[in-house]
Amino acid sequence: MSSEMILSSNAAELEKVIRERRSVRTFEDREVWKEDVEKLQAFIQELDDPFDKKIEYRFLKAKEHKLTSPVLSGEDLYLAGKVKKGHLSDVAFGYSLEQIVLYAWQQRIGTVWIAGTLNRDAFEKAIGLQPDEVMPAVTPVGYIAKKMALRETLMRKGVKADTRLPFEKLFFKDRFDTPLTDDGSDLCKALEMVRLAPSAVNKQPWRAVVSGDAVHFYEKKDKGYDHGEDGDLQKVDVGIGLAHFVLMTKALGLNGSLKEADPQIQLPAETEYIITWTKA
Ligand SMILES: Cc1cc2nc3c(=O)[nH]c(=O)nc-3n(C[C@H](O)[C@H](O)[C@H](O)COP(=O)(O)O)c2cc1C
Repeated sequence: MSSEMILSSNAAELEKVIRERRSVRTFEDREVWKEDVEKLQAFIQELDDPFDKKIEYRFLKAKEHKLTSPVLSGEDLYLAGKVKKGHLSDVAFGYSLEQIVLYAWQQRIGTVWIAGTLNRDAFEKAIGLQPDEVMPAVTPVGYIAKKMALRETLMRKGVKADTRLPFEKLFFKDRFDTPLTDDGSDLCKALEMVRLAPSAVNKQPWRAVVSGDAVHFYEKKDKGYDHGEDGDLQKVDVGIGLAHFVLMTKALGLNGSLKEADPQIQLPAETEYIITWTKA
């Protein structure tokens, strides 16, 4: 079983998973079956690691480790991940965990990225976090309750979780002052999957500039976030968007690879170059 087989072998199925996925904060109050945990573990084993960051995951029982998140109800099990601090570590983490999030949804297992609303010390202790490592986010893993708890409904309203910025505000042609028109091409289909991705506080910080066979990805930084050396949550978001993009290009049979190759074009304020995808 490989991640590519499951998620990027069928563009229509992948698109359905991406369009239908939502954050799940209300779970059925019961244990996750061993078989389901094993499925996720097998998937994690097969994850590709284009950034070569060796992200480590651990399934953690909420009660055993006293793990809590005030936005959740009914959760029993968490998946936490950690990575060595360093250039592109946050991006790599987003790229990796989002593939697990999509796969879980496909298996009818609910998740939600949690970076802020958790008792972080307990999680970091449970995963054995070292000083040279970061644990950017965790997710509960469980069965989706039929009815959302009121606090989940309110949370979704608070961050306008069901809305996304329009295509032309996110993607550009050659320069940041020329919006890209969605012409229905495969590249635009893959970019549309980026647009639909989840992000912290639904800020959608990914931007991309298409130039010939290259797509340059950027981070548009919001004020109020720590963009420091120890971790930058909005880089995690860019990694999440990249995962959607790369999975969709693969599913559409577009071969390409990720590489740092900054085209040095003029940037809007608070915008940082991240990485370039180039068609093979
Ligand atoms: C990196 C990251 C961190 C997040 N942290 C939290 C969090 O701490 N608490 C929370 O309730 N939701 C968190 N979210 C979930 C977002 O609020 C959610 O993805 C966004 O509002 C879009 O909603 P959707 O996932 O249902 O499409 C986080 C999402 C991402 C990508």
